[in-house]
Amino acid sequence: MGTDKDTHTYYFNIKKNDDLFFLRKCTYDDLNKVKEVNEKELPEDYPFFFYKSILDNYPDSFLVACDNNNPNEIIGYVMWRVEKIPSKNSLRLINKGHLVSIAVSEGFKRLGIASALLTNSMPPIREQNVYEFVLEVRVSNYNAVGLYKTFKFKTDGIKKRYYRDGENAYYMILKVKKD
Ligand SMILES: CC(C)(COP(=O)(O)OP(=O)(O)OC[C@H]1O[C@@H](n2cnc3c(N)ncnc32)[C@H](O)[C@@H]1OP(=O)(O)O)[C@@H](O)C(=O)NCCC(=O)NCCS
Repeated sequence: MGTDKDTHTYYFNIKKNDDLFFLRKCTYDDLNKVKEVNEKELPEDYPFFFYKSILDNYPDSFLVACDNNNPNEIIGYVMWRVEKIPSKNSLRLINKGHLVSIAVSEGFKRLGIASALLTNSMPPIREQNVYEFVLEVRVSNYNAVGLYKTFKFKTDGIKKRYYRDGENAYYMILKVKKD
């Protein structure tokens, strides 16, 4: 599976500050810039092939945000993947949508960009028969926890020493349907 160089923005749902930024699907040419945003904004970094494999497999939910004043610059991104987990209620395996990473560049925060990225990336994941959306977030990352709460994610537990530096993660879940 690949992705076309789709710069159309018309189907993206942006509620506020849509004059400041626009969203589009990520392309292979964007990956180095996405990696740069990630490296500036988060302690976790990933090798290039990891980004590429997410784009290969989940092109509809790998979105980037661009500055309207400088449309070639990537100022935010979101990427998801779909994983199989054992159902708690049966022997079946069920799909969950796992938030791999989201970040917005300094200077563009608190404008609704992450909210727009989530709003527009979750529906294509949901279409893949997912029962829940899940994510891990550092317990000290109040901004991100605040963001996820606005999307009705609930803390389902703590993953001890989840991060390389030993920090714990909240495991947060948004149920989509009963398994
Ligand atoms: C977390 C992050 C992605 C939020 O991006 P953003 O574009 O600033 O978020 P939004 O503007 O869409 O904010 C949506 C809501 O999240 C919450 N929120 C976001 N930043 C916040 C902050 N600094 N303080 C308190 N609440 C915050 C608020 O509820 C906010 O709604 P409001 O502005 O109407 O009050 C951004 O701060 C970031 O890139 N952080 C570094 C990377 C990171 O931590 N990623 C998540 C890893 S799990």
